[in-house]
Amino acid sequence: MFFPRTFCTSESLLPAAEEKSVFSYLNCVLQGDALHVLQTLPDNVVDLIVTSPPYADQHAATYGGVKPDEYADWFLPIADQLLRVLKPEGSLILNIKERVVNGERHTYVLELIIKMRQQGWLWTEEYVWHKRNCYPGKWPNRFRDAWERCLHFTKQRKFAMYQEAVMVPMGDWKNSRLAKLSETDQKRDNSRVLSGFGKNISNWVGREMAFPTNVVHLATECGNRSHSAAFPIELPSWFIKLFTQPGDLVLDPFLGSGTTAVAAQALDRRYVGIEINPEYVALAQERLRPRASANLFTVKEKAKRSYKRRKPRHLHSSQSMSTTTLTTSTSTV
Ligand SMILES: C[S@@+](CC[C@H](N)C(=O)[O-])C[C@H]1O[C@@H](n2cnc3c(N)ncnc32)[C@H](O)[C@@H]1O
Repeated sequence: MFFPRTFCTSESLLPAAEEKSVFSYLNCVLQGDALHVLQTLPDNVVDLIVTSPPYADQHAATYGGVKPDEYADWFLPIADQLLRVLKPEGSLILNIKERVVNGERHTYVLELIIKMRQQGWLWTEEYVWHKRNCYPGKWPNRFRDAWERCLHFTKQRKFAMYQEAVMVPMGDWKNSRLAKLSETDQKRDNSRVLSGFGKNISNWVGREMAFPTNVVHLATECGNRSHSAAFPIELPSWFIKLFTQPGDLVLDPFLGSGTTAVAAQALDRRYVGIEINPEYVALAQERLRPRASANLFTVKEKAKRSYKRRKPRHLHSSQSMSTTTLTTSTSTV
């Protein structure tokens, strides 16, 4: 049996003995190959996986890479393990972007989506991470790349989702469109393309907050000079708030500098990180120094704590979120 090297936040933060029998790696960074380490985790224990696997060949100099043609087949056994460790109502967010090979976008991400669906995953949604601070540049045949995919996979159509946790201020709509409603705006307006969707904009009059779109606008991480592809902490934080509650377990099997675990810790979730490179493990550990407010509680303690558990708003995979706030929101009220 393979046992990964384990780096936990500190002895005092290790879960109580009864929970160790359930799961011994809470709040730990595990050093090793994701495929092998994942095989040591129990079934159905993780609430959310947020990860950015090595992009095909792209960072070969710093942390290795996989050839584009081999990418889907390399990732599939890992995806199979992720499917096994994820709870039935859990979610997987896969941050990935196909690179350009011989002048055209390679199709390995598309191939991966198709193969993961065959493996049993539902490709529930695709969020776009818009990189607000994308550096300027000029290419002969395309513009600068300012977005990445955050693919959302689930195991079943009904999954845990806490949409209120990521609501945004209504903004200009409050004083512009919502201040002057047309006749159509005041009743349910069904989609003209017969999609089955409809909206009643007047439902939003007087509200301060709205649901966001599926485009997440965030600057890239510039301050983390020790890892060439670190997340901005707001990216995993946004998905952690959307798909988990305090005490839930978040996994990143390609932890890098530890951003997902740092975000989970700050939001009072528990984490497990896997990283193959010992230098990045050390970096993650440095960022995950034990803190007084770390999530110490065990599953039993969690049950006793009076977290106000809101009922998850389940969104069916057929109800894709629209790119405009109002149509998104009104289809769910
Ligand atoms: C895109 S980076 C992740 C960066 C991370 N999101 C962060 O915020 O720092 C991918 C990471 O996967 C690690 N990695 C590559 N192959 C791996 C494997 N087979 N198992 C585990 N980690 C691996 C690399 O060392 C790298 O740190």
